[in-house]
Amino acid sequence: MAVSDLRGFIAALERSGDLVRIKREVDWDMEVGAISRRAYEKAGPALLFEKIKDYPPGYSILNGPVGTWRRVAVALGLPPETSVRQLYAAYEEKHERKLSPVTVDTAPCQEIVMAGPEVDVYQLPAPMVHDGDGGRYIGTWDIIVTRDPDTGWTNWGMYRFMIHTKNMLTGWPQATSQLAIMMKSKYLPRKQAMPVAVVIGCEPLCHMVATDPYKPGENEVEYAGGLRGEPVKLVRCKTQNLLVPADAEIVIEGEVLPDRIALEGPFGEYPGYRSGTMGEGVLVQITGITHRKNPILTLSTLGVPPDDSSIAASLTAAIAMKRGLRRRGVPVKDVYVPPEGVTHLIVVSVERGGSRVARQVLDFFTARRVMVSKVIVVDRDVDAFDMNQVLHAFATKCHPGRGIALEHYEGRGNALTPCYSADERRRLKGTSAVFDATWPEDWEEEGVPIKSSFETTYPDWLKEKVLAHWESDGLGGRL
Ligand SMILES: Cc1cc2nc3c(=O)[nH]c(=O)nc-3n(C[C@H](O)[C@H](O)[C@H](O)COP(=O)(O)O)c2cc1C
Repeated sequence: MAVSDLRGFIAALERSGDLVRIKREVDWDMEVGAISRRAYEKAGPALLFEKIKDYPPGYSILNGPVGTWRRVAVALGLPPETSVRQLYAAYEEKHERKLSPVTVDTAPCQEIVMAGPEVDVYQLPAPMVHDGDGGRYIGTWDIIVTRDPDTGWTNWGMYRFMIHTKNMLTGWPQATSQLAIMMKSKYLPRKQAMPVAVVIGCEPLCHMVATDPYKPGENEVEYAGGLRGEPVKLVRCKTQNLLVPADAEIVIEGEVLPDRIALEGPFGEYPGYRSGTMGEGVLVQITGITHRKNPILTLSTLGVPPDDSSIAASLTAAIAMKRGLRRRGVPVKDVYVPPEGVTHLIVVSVERGGSRVARQVLDFFTARRVMVSKVIVVDRDVDAFDMNQVLHAFATKCHPGRGIALEHYEGRGNALTPCYSADERRRLKGTSAVFDATWPEDWEEEGVPIKSSFETTYPDWLKEKVLAHWESDGLGGRL
């Protein structure tokens, strides 16, 4: 079974050898970020910074909860060496076992309470993550909880939040996020402030669920329970009518103001580039802060992959896309989101290929908000998780004239797609391309080139003989 809080997860990482404690004093002003960034780029461990300059002993920062596949495996309660394909399968399977949350009256996340005039977010060690960020970011690996005022549906999303003043945060939920849609459609017309909670420091599965683009009405906390194999405990906030995970390290309670905005960003973002210039962000008036004694702030020092974003989104986006493609009748076998492609590039393998199926895939990806700009479709005999095979299929099977289809859109695109111009980003304008690396459906069997590989070229009896002698021929370990 997976763990139920961040401290349990840290202990599990320590047991698997995937955590290093940094005991010397480090500066919240870029030093934590610089060490963390290099650790990702060297495939290093999660880092627990135990002594932060200007902060009391015991206040710490955990960077990179799921910055490697090994850490995802630990979060899921699986052996750290579990393969990516197996992790995808386990996530998909556990995800379907939804478990209802339980509500509790007292909670570790409320051991310390600040409310009203006592509120001072600078009492928490929010780092200046990268050089060039617009400010100190307290929300990088968080869960943002909001509620639909009409239906009571609660949304979880992961959005970045920067400190504006000691009792205000500013954030950047994209126009296509559920927070932005809810604010625009429900709260702004009534000129009402929107209750919000910024939850920091749960075990990673709750956070991963928050990165999954569920539809309105879907109960994300039940999915988190299913993944953990144990219901999530929820507690009511002290100053807002919202339920939040009781075992979190820190909860910042507040309201998104309907009549004010504030400057926000830039931030070193998940595609691996700094996000433009400072822009307009939503403004949150903090009404209360609650936390555990000796709180641990979770941090994701985003940048070039792999990091928590490219790894977590690889998994959650792929499962969501597979669900969606199946709903649309696409004969999908696997969806793989290679972390190196930072969710801009997706691989879809299909049971039956051809241009019609490739078009269906493109239509799916461009139907709503569009975060993906490139999709490679491969036949079922290509392992979508093996980028060597995918690249081979792309290079040899995608016709440069007929095999590429495009879809253009405006108002629904991804403002963080680096190849878009400033104007395109502002207007959420974009283009998605599907690269059809499958054989055309109308080719006669004789016309389809035969793949020249061990698997496809030799008779079964010979393959069996080769495999039977493999070890004794001195080729063991190369299976
Ligand atoms: C580390 C990380 C940071 C993210 N930051 C933001 C952000 O600042 N704004 C945003 O709109 N989406 C951000 N996302 C993507 C959203 O979490 C994702 O689109 C999710 O589906 C949002 O939830 P929603 O569908 O309920 O809006 C981030 C994802 C990760 C993994």
